[in-house]
Amino acid sequence: MGRVLVIGSINVDMVTETDRIPEQGETLIGGRFRTVPGGKGANQAVAAAKAGADVTMIGAVGDDSIGSDMLANLRKAGIDTSCVKIVQEEATGTAVILLTEGDNRIIVSPGANASVTPDTIASLESVMVNSDVVLLQLEVPLEAVTAAVQLAHRHRIPIVLNPAPAAALPAEVWKKATWITPNEREQQQLFLHGEFREKLITTFGANGVAYWAGNEVKQVAGHRVQVTDTTGAGDTFNGVFAALLAEGATCEQAVIMANAASAISVQTFGAQGGMPDRKTIEAFLAARRPE
Ligand code: RIB
Ligand code: NA
Repeated sequence: MGRVLVIGSINVDMVTETDRIPEQGETLIGGRFRTVPGGKGANQAVAAAKAGADVTMIGAVGDDSIGSDMLANLRKAGIDTSCVKIVQEEATGTAVILLTEGDNRIIVSPGANASVTPDTIASLESVMVNSDVVLLQLEVPLEAVTAAVQLAHRHRIPIVLNPAPAAALPAEVWKKATWITPNEREQQQLFLHGEFREKLITTFGANGVAYWAGNEVKQVAGHRVQVTDTTGAGDTFNGVFAALLAEGATCEQAVIMANAASAISVQTFGAQGGMPDRKTIEAFLAARRPE
């Protein structure tokens, strides 16, 4: 079993279904409202655990009932939450999500997630050295992400950085990260350092994934599925990708598994709803393999 350390956000997702987005000043009667676990960090941790990794999470929640529910949800997936801080007088992170025909618009209020700092990372060095892959996103402060990249690089631990939500990355992060995994839109916002393009693994939703092998772009085709909710599709991809790398899989094997997992996940409502276990991913791929 590979060991994945996820450093990132833990949110509660408040999801409203609607046929369209309201205009300014307009009140709209929407559809169903649901509250489900989310946060890019937590989602990726759950995806990695379901794919078979031994997962530890570093993050922060508020000292509120939502925070304890979100921690319980992670533990139920078998994730070690002993390094998640519980922050007094901060709310657990929330994401307000408008879901229209399977597509989403998201606003995140970081709350306690903002309390993940370079000091948090430094104090957990002993945890980091016990991991095979470090997996990061950008919903905790960039200084903490940078500190984690520096520390993991110093210990020669492979780093997967999912640059979501998109932000300009310090040159040092480009240099030290092993893989950088934007979606199509995030890639346009990254101000790519050309010399590091071979680190990019770009996801294109239903159109699959592209990555570099030497001077060549390799493509893995998307799978045609019935889409219910694309929220968390990228998180499923990243969690499964990191889980596979942690086991020693090649980049290509990891991309193929992660691409299948995210196609499975979008068929079910909720960021973590529909995240497949290992057997389900393998069965899905076996059923789709050309004769
Ligand atoms: O990537 C999807 C996630 O983004 C949601 O779960 C939401 O919490 C936001 O962090
Ligand atoms: Na889903």
